[in-house]
Amino acid sequence: MEIVVFTGAGISAESGIKTFRDSGGLWEEHSIYDVATPEAWEKDPQLVLRFYNDRRKQMESVIPNTAHKELVELERSHNVSIITQNVDDLHERAGSSNVLHLHGELKMARSTGDESLLYDYTGKSIEFGENCEKGYQLRPHVVWFGEMVPNLVLAENIASKADVFIVVGSSLQVYPAAGLIHATPPHCRYFYIDPKAEPINGIANLNIIKEKASTGVPKLASELAKL
Ligand code: OAD
Repeated sequence: MEIVVFTGAGISAESGIKTFRDSGGLWEEHSIYDVATPEAWEKDPQLVLRFYNDRRKQMESVIPNTAHKELVELERSHNVSIITQNVDDLHERAGSSNVLHLHGELKMARSTGDESLLYDYTGKSIEFGENCEKGYQLRPHVVWFGEMVPNLVLAENIASKADVFIVVGSSLQVYPAAGLIHATPPHCRYFYIDPKAEPINGIANLNIIKEKASTGVPKLASELAKL
């Protein structure tokens, strides 16, 4: 069976990484628009770099939780593809084999002049004035508001093969990512694990599991493992 798991900030919440919309509109004390837009980068690149350097350090100080690990276990019985909106690397560190990042990866730096130039910045900070080999400033390899989502087509292709599609810990407020569920085939079964999960327009047979990822994911995974 092909299981596609679409994860958001909620799956990493219990590892100690704050979600975006649970903290009163502020993300680690910043408005999203002051740190996660091309305009913010134009206005104050040093603030943006500092912000993401702090996020990278924080990510490196936390570890995957039960929910990340249970998704790895599920690979014993099914083909599992993870499509994550998260920029952290907790799915990979838990051991998941197929992880696609829709909104980029915090651990990578990218050239502002040639988007094919990527550098692993694990354990490092991107400094202002630090350039790629072609001489362009480096930036975080993340998708900011208003930017294209380069992995969207790949993600739609993965979703189109899903027998089961599971949403974990996402408010489903940010498009185009939130629309991915509509790329699934007609026979697909749907589950939504989130303490604030609500019905999704156009998805009639949605199973809502109003629980935290650390309890909801193990329960569902053990049910699916029997199939
Ligand atoms: P949000 O902050 O919008 O939503 C987080 C969701 O996690 C909410 O629905 C919470 O109810 C849920 N949640 C909180 N704690 C949880 C727990 N322990 N277990 C399960 N769920 C829990 O985050 P996303 O939906 O991921 O984009 O946000 C989507 C995108 O908006 C992000 O990728 C980012 C952001 O701006 C970019 O940076 C482009």
